[in-house]
Amino acid sequence: MDLNDIAAFAQAIIYEAGLVLMEGFYQHKEVEQKSSSVDSVTQYDRIVESLIVSRILSRFPDHAILGEEGSSHVGKGLYQWIIDPLDGTNNFIHGIPIFSISIALYKREKPLVGVVFDPTRDECFTAVTNQGAFLKDRNNNIQKLAVSHTQKLIHSLLATGFPYDRHTNPHNNIAEIEVFVKKAQGVLRLGSAALAVCYVASSRLEGYWECKLSSWDVAASRLIVEEAGGRTSHFNNSRVKLNKQMNLVASNGFIHQQMLDTILEA
Ligand code: IPD
Ligand code: CA
Ligand code: CA
Repeated sequence: MDLNDIAAFAQAIIYEAGLVLMEGFYQHKEVEQKSSSVDSVTQYDRIVESLIVSRILSRFPDHAILGEEGSSHVGKGLYQWIIDPLDGTNNFIHGIPIFSISIALYKREKPLVGVVFDPTRDECFTAVTNQGAFLKDRNNNIQKLAVSHTQKLIHSLLATGFPYDRHTNPHNNIAEIEVFVKKAQGVLRLGSAALAVCYVASSRLEGYWECKLSSWDVAASRLIVEEAGGRTSHFNNSRVKLNKQMNLVASNGFIHQQMLDTILEA
């Protein structure tokens, strides 16, 4: 399997999907709630997921697919695509131009290709395993990504997010953010986990943490940050294993232990 060809294939799909989201961004959205009153879905999440799934299956009918909005195809081999058709749905609904599309290809548990596209800024982040991570910008310039060299938490700009059961579950990241706000240069809540992790890869941020993520939120971006020289782990420093309810830290590497210690302290 030529992974560069697969990356180009995924990029073509993601640019097409981005056009659909940009058109939908200025239209009326039909909003429904899912797991909680703050877990939303629109018709555009579903339209984009169907588009991506149909493009993948027309070329790889034997591959498995897992999509946030319910697409689930049991494949015949070892390959699985993991899709978040719209990461940042609540921003999208509110007209805030911070959201992304995420497509990843895995072989068993190993990430092979990850692509994250921000359609409002026309920025496409791509990584192929062992080949580095790259950003293609709105002028079609391509730059190799590298994480920042910031060594200390107090000089670090971080991002985080909050789980959808935060109103009823005490494990809701409030204690953690209180400590990080006092120890870091700043803490953002972008509203798109996939994009926040890509921002660590591109040295815009030094680190990101969040609890109870789903596999599709970060399946692509964790490869992008790892290929940019960053480090990822669960809160207990174990190797990242995708599942539902993941606790993830992604960093430039230098501040990783400081972030894990801070989470422990909280
Ligand atoms: C959400 C976003 C958000 C993060 C949530 C995710 P969705 O994804 O990535 O930033 O805080 O944990 O579920 O629902 O917009 O695809
Ligand atoms: Ca998501
Ligand atoms: Ca989503």
